[in-house]
Amino acid sequence: MKLAGKVAIVTGATQGLGHDVARGLVAQGARVVIAGIDPAAGQAVADALGDMARYVGTDIEDDAQIAQCIAATLAHFGQLDLLVNNACVYDDAGIASTRAQWLHTLNVNLVSAAIFAQQAAAVMPRGGVIVNLGSVGGKFGSAARATYPASKAGMLQLTRNLAVALAPQGIRCVSVSPAWTWSPALAGMSGGSIERADAVGAHVHPLGRVGRGEEVAAAVAFACSSEASWITGVDLPVDGGFSCLGPDQGRSPRAWFEATP
Ligand SMILES: NC(=O)c1ccc[n+]([C@@H]2O[C@H](COP(=O)([O-])OP(=O)(O)OC[C@H]3O[C@@H](n4cnc5c(N)ncnc54)[C@H](O)[C@@H]3O)[C@@H](O)[C@H]2O)c1
Repeated sequence: MKLAGKVAIVTGATQGLGHDVARGLVAQGARVVIAGIDPAAGQAVADALGDMARYVGTDIEDDAQIAQCIAATLAHFGQLDLLVNNACVYDDAGIASTRAQWLHTLNVNLVSAAIFAQQAAAVMPRGGVIVNLGSVGGKFGSAARATYPASKAGMLQLTRNLAVALAPQGIRCVSVSPAWTWSPALAGMSGGSIERADAVGAHVHPLGRVGRGEEVAAAVAFACSSEASWITGVDLPVDGGFSCLGPDQGRSPRAWFEATP
């Protein structure tokens, strides 16, 4: 039990990786507030986790709702030690994205995480931890997407800023960057088949499959724990080797010549 006695807020934990992270933190002994905008799903997630979890309706684009979420956490669980900035939107049309799409994506994925961190840090004790969800999408050029990768690149810089600014308070900040991970987005693309997702994912992940939410959750739990007490301001890739590949996909020039008639 790495997180016994700790209290966490996980944003966007009503589905996908946020749900997996919330489950993973509870499994390590933390009590968790499921912060989100889907009451039915959020209540179901909280009910499944029992007394260790509570759903608090929170639109993170609204500063007052962030404040209410933190107040509700303190009222119900008595403290706030951990914040996982997980919520996101995939509102992206590549370089054709409209200003509205840019502002919406940056507001949810980056600005709201910064405001949540600002408000949470004000009540966290020494030993508090903020984990930001990055992505391999924020590390490489992309033809099809623009707003989402920019927001995720911003999360890596936000992590460094928070780490330095909050270090005097004894609060750490780490980002966790998954590659393709089984989630509603991948379920949609694969027709609900994890085998197909693994087969397609094998092309770009040296470990030969897509990630699992539990693997991301394990990294978040580690980052939140005292085992990571000397780790701050860095990114933890949880990506099956995706980010260690260069443009040559790990194949030698000879292999490329042989494969190109
Ligand atoms: N799925 C992947 O393969 C993958 C890969 C790399 C990184 N990530 C990161 O993991 C995180 C979760 O991704 P996912 O694929 O599970 O996403 P998802 O779309 O399944 O879930 C996102 C959640 O955020 C919530 N949300 C959206 N706007 C909100 C708002 N204004 N206020 C509160 N909640 C809001 C949604 O309701 C939803 O519950 C994201 O930060 C994403 O960038 C995911």
